[in-house]
Amino acid sequence: MRPLAICEVAAEVAPFAKTGGLGDAVAGLSRMLGAAGQDVRLFLPLYPAIWRQERELVPVEFLRDVPVWLGRREVRFSAFTTKLPASEVDVYLLHCPSLFHQDAIYASGWDEHYRFGFLSVAALTCCQRMGWAPEILHVHDWHAALTPLFARTLFGWDRLFAATRSVLTLHNLGHHGLFGGHTIGELGLDGHLALLPPEDVAADRLSFLRNGILHADLLTTVSETYAREIQTPDGGFGLDDLLRARAASLVGIVNGVDYGDWDPRHDPHLPHPYDAADLAGKRRMKRALLERVGMEAGEETPVVGMVSRLVEQKGIDLCFEALPELLARRDFRLVVLGSGEERYEALFHRLQATFPGKAWFYRGYHEPLAHWIEAGADLFLMPSRYEPCGLNQLYSLRYGTPPVVRRTGGLADTVEPYSWERGTGTGFVFSDYTPAGLVWALDHALTTFAHPEAWRGLQRRGMALDFSWERQGRPYLELFRGLAA
Ligand code: ADP
Ligand code: GLC
Repeated sequence: MRPLAICEVAAEVAPFAKTGGLGDAVAGLSRMLGAAGQDVRLFLPLYPAIWRQERELVPVEFLRDVPVWLGRREVRFSAFTTKLPASEVDVYLLHCPSLFHQDAIYASGWDEHYRFGFLSVAALTCCQRMGWAPEILHVHDWHAALTPLFARTLFGWDRLFAATRSVLTLHNLGHHGLFGGHTIGELGLDGHLALLPPEDVAADRLSFLRNGILHADLLTTVSETYAREIQTPDGGFGLDDLLRARAASLVGIVNGVDYGDWDPRHDPHLPHPYDAADLAGKRRMKRALLERVGMEAGEETPVVGMVSRLVEQKGIDLCFEALPELLARRDFRLVVLGSGEERYEALFHRLQATFPGKAWFYRGYHEPLAHWIEAGADLFLMPSRYEPCGLNQLYSLRYGTPPVVRRTGGLADTVEPYSWERGTGTGFVFSDYTPAGLVWALDHALTTFAHPEAWRGLQRRGMALDFSWERQGRPYLELFRGLAA
C-alpha cells in the first residue's frame, strides 16, 4: 500500500520534551506509524532545554529565518531536524527564540496563545516550503488544536492542503487553552469570526480546544471509556454538548506502550532485569529500591509505589485521609515520586516526617527513579479522579507491579479487577471517589499480597498483556486510511 503522508503537531514529544504521557504517546504512535511504512513528520517547538540534550540537530537550509505573519505581527523561525530515536521518523524542531526562550514547556505567560498559535502556523509553513501535502494532519491537545482552523483560514488559499484531512486527539479535556477575546485578532482570526464557535465569540474569548473539536474532521481520545465520559456533564469540562454533537466522529483508542523503553527484560535503567518466568530480578530491584530510599523491609512487607504529576486529576485529595490511616494501621512502605501543586507536595513531605522509615517522597521529575519504582515496588497506586488513558498503570502491569486504580477512563479499560474465587484479574479497582474507596482497595491489595501464590498469578496475568503500539496503533492507521481515501 502507498505510504500515507502524516503530519504530527504537538507540544510534547518524548524524549525531546515531556511533562507527562502526552510526550510518550505522540512519540510511540509516530514510531509505530513510521515502522509501518508511513511518511510521518513530527513538528514541535525547539524548547531551549533541547539544546542541552546534546543531540545532533541539523539546520534545514530552506527553513532558515522564515517569516510568518500571525495577526499583525511577524515572527521568524528556523527549523532543525533530527530522527525520532529508534525510528526513521523525521522530527522538525521549530526554533523561535523570541517566543520560546525559557525551559518550561508551558510558560503560562501573556503570550501563551501566541507561542502555541505559532506552533500550528509554523508547522503548516514548513509543509508549504517542503512542497509536502499532508494527507493527515494529526494534532494533539489544545496546544495544536487551532491547526485545522488555520489550515482552512490563513492557509485556505493554498491548494497544497486541499485534500488534507485533520484529526484531533484529546489527551486531556481538563486543559482548554482558554484566552481573552483580544487573542482572536492577535492570532489573525478576526476576519473569520463566522467560523469560530458562536458561544466563544459572544463571550469574547477564544478556546483552542473548542475550535479544534469543531473543525477537525475526526476526533479521537485515548480510551473508550473516556470517549463516553467526555460526552457527559461530569467528564466534559463544559465541552460535552459539542462532543455529543460530534459523537459520530469521536473514537476512543487506548494508548500503547513503548516496550523498547518500558520492559523489565531490557530496561537500561534497571541493574537487575527480570521477566515473568523468573522474578528473582524483581526481588533484587525491591531490595535496591529500599536501599536507595534508605528504608528497611523484608520480602513479606509490601512496597507501594507512586509516580505522578501531583495535580487534582490524579486523585491525591483522597490520600490526605486514606494514607495516614493506612500507614498507621498496616505494615507497608510507601515510595512516592512527583511534583506539582504545593498542597500535595506538602502532604507527602508530612507523611515522610510522620512515618519515618515507612513513607518516602522525592519531589521532582526523575526518569530513572520512575523506572526503579515501577520495578522495585510491589503495588502501584493511581487513584485518579479522572484519567483519559494513563500510562503508568500499563507500565506497572508489565513490571509485575499490580496497579491499585479507580474505575475511570483508561484505568477502567486496562485494569481488570482481581477475583480470588475465579483466579482472574490484574489489579485492584475501586469505584467511589472517596477516601474509603481507596482504603478498601489498598486493604484488599495488601491482604492479597500476603498470599504469594495468588500474587504471582496476578503478576503473571498482568505481565502477559500486550499494550504495544504495534497493536494499539493499528486502529489509528485504519482510521487515517479511511479518512484519506
Ligand atoms: P499524565 O500524562 O496525565 O501525567 P500518564 O500516566 O499518561 O499520566 O503519563 C505519565 C508519564 O509521566 C509517565 O511516563 C510517567 O513515568 C511520567 N512521570 C510523571 N511524573 C514523573 C516524575 N515525577 N518523574 C518521572 N517521570 C514522571
Ligand atoms: C494525558 C492524560 C493521560 C494520558 C496521556 C497520554 O496526559 O492525563 O491519562 O495517558 O495524556 O495520552
